[in-house]
Amino acid sequence: MRDSSVKLLSHPSTRIEPKSMGKQRVLSGVQPTGNLHLGNYLGAIRNWVEGQSQYENFFCVVDLHAITVPHNPATLAADTYTIAALYLACGIDLNYATIFVQSHISAHSELTWLLNCITPINWLQDMIQFKEKAVKQGQNVSTGLLDYPVLMAADILLYDTDLVPVGEDQKQHIELTRDIVIRLNDQFGSPEKPVLKLPQPLIRKEGARVMSLTDGTRKMSKSDPSELSRINLLDPPDAIQKKIKRCKTDPIKGLEFDHPERPECNNLLTLYMLLSGKTKEAVAAECQDMGWGQFKPLLTETTVEALKPIQQKYQAVMADKGYLESVLREGRQQAEAIAHFTLSKVKTALGYSTPL
Ligand code: AMP
Ligand code: TRP
Repeated sequence: MRDSSVKLLSHPSTRIEPKSMGKQRVLSGVQPTGNLHLGNYLGAIRNWVEGQSQYENFFCVVDLHAITVPHNPATLAADTYTIAALYLACGIDLNYATIFVQSHISAHSELTWLLNCITPINWLQDMIQFKEKAVKQGQNVSTGLLDYPVLMAADILLYDTDLVPVGEDQKQHIELTRDIVIRLNDQFGSPEKPVLKLPQPLIRKEGARVMSLTDGTRKMSKSDPSELSRINLLDPPDAIQKKIKRCKTDPIKGLEFDHPERPECNNLLTLYMLLSGKTKEAVAAECQDMGWGQFKPLLTETTVEALKPIQQKYQAVMADKGYLESVLREGRQQAEAIAHFTLSKVKTALGYSTPL
């Protein structure tokens, strides 16, 4: 079975058509910290996959972001490969997309420095995610954590990105990216000749904010200390069953979407809707008279079935390390050429001399 899955993997050198052809550019990324969970999948990666044929896509593993909070050097490289393999396992197609590792392209760090020097510090201090993460870090807040959104802006801007598909929690960072572009273009470009392109967020309504299984008012997160709060894409069926069995519910019979006092109910129905591919109306009708005892096994089975092909393809990709390395090597080459071009453009606009 593994062999047949391996054949499904397209080799980067066997692409059938050029990826660009005047399409709009998309860029997004995920940090290699912890496991990918259903929030990452439904809020971000699934949307990358669904839209990929319409766009020219760049998907990076943002490993420079991963060290903005304390990290484990012994697992960073392996975690980076895991995320890249999961991109492929979730259905990213190399005919449409370039997959690469952020730290492999030095232009990301270099543009961050240039953007730092035009970004007012209070813009960064106002970021919700910074404030939330800083509280969790106590005394140990690094300059990198504050600067995290500028690095994210560099990721986006290096590729002349039009659209950034992310979950709701990243919207503010993309607004900040836009503010940086406007400021830089205003100071160093002209309306006819902007230096950088103004990107836009692409946030789907459904799945943009998947909530924790143990508290329907908090988002599902890699950093929640409780494993029971999230379903990871690589969780085996028994773990999925246990987590759904123990997830928080309410004592009301009959399940319904959008009830303000039933956040868990809305979240679990939304998961069922997205993972089954059914419409909201169909799910509302199917579940309106159900109790939790009937719904939980249904959600368990649907989740296990939805994750099974991803897990199989992940195993196939990981079994062939040479293949994954070739994907990332070619990805780096393609991304690097574009990144260096943009970086040079910015340096010229800022008045730098050309290296001799
Ligand atoms: P991160 O885990 O912070 O690297 O996030 C990677 C991507 O997943 C980003 O586009 C996030 O917006 C998205 N994401 C993370 N958590 C959730 C969630 N609970 N619901 C929806 N999207 C999410
Ligand atoms: N900050 C994003 C997150 O944690 C990850 C990220 C880094 C990103 N650079 C990016 C997302 C560029 C989109 C585009 O979710």
